[in-house]
Amino acid sequence: MSQTPRPLVAGNWKMNGRRADGLALAKAVASAAAGIEAELLVCPPATLLGAVGEALAGSAVGLGGQDCHQAAAGAHTGDIAAPMLADLGCRHVILGHSERRAGHGESAALVRAKAEAALAAGLIPILCIGETEAERDRGEAFAVVARQLAGSLPDRATAASAVVAYEPVWSIGSGRTPTLADIAALHGHLRAELARRFADAAGFRLLYGGSVKPANAVEILATANVNGALVGGASLKAEDFLAIARACPRA
Ligand code: PGA
Repeated sequence: MSQTPRPLVAGNWKMNGRRADGLALAKAVASAAAGIEAELLVCPPATLLGAVGEALAGSAVGLGGQDCHQAAAGAHTGDIAAPMLADLGCRHVILGHSERRAGHGESAALVRAKAEAALAAGLIPILCIGETEAERDRGEAFAVVARQLAGSLPDRATAASAVVAYEPVWSIGSGRTPTLADIAALHGHLRAELARRFADAAGFRLLYGGSVKPANAVEILATANVNGALVGGASLKAEDFLAIARACPRA
């Protein structure tokens, strides 16, 4: 992988969408994807992975899951294993999202086990990290994200096999974003933390996530050490998601 990675713009649909609107959204994104410099990915709810995967077949848009279990198979009612996602054509899986760390009590160790399972299944984990507002107010943002990165990114990850997404918890779904200077400082810190462990740290994609919209995408995506975006709310409208994707700077 070259030193400056190709940007990745990933849509996290979260727990939204029925079959009809999910298919319409996927088709609208797929039909406009050719010619966009960034790599595009949509992560629908598990119920729509099969149908959306079929709608995306032959397009440049990738399919991703929103979570997986740490075991490859077995008696885990309601869970989805990484090889099942791979079997449906997924290339990526979001792991450690704050809505899972907080809402489902997921520890760094659990997220790391899930990331190991994803890597073993040939999936690229999109590992989410980010501080809460209280942690930021206490001046702990850098320490928190470094701890989360150390705790949940497996040692065998490489720039080609894993993605890191910085998502300040207070920015998710709130319409509030850090200043560009804060994003640059935080992403620079993450790059330096990666460099302590990985020889190919420069090639890792570091995504920013949290209230990315067409109106702020150009500036955020041009910020140093930002290699794409993880988009929640704005990924539910094809035109907004595509506008964000088009905002990525050309390499
Ligand atoms: P948001 O969500 O874009 O709606 O803030 C981002 C995310 O949770 O990944």
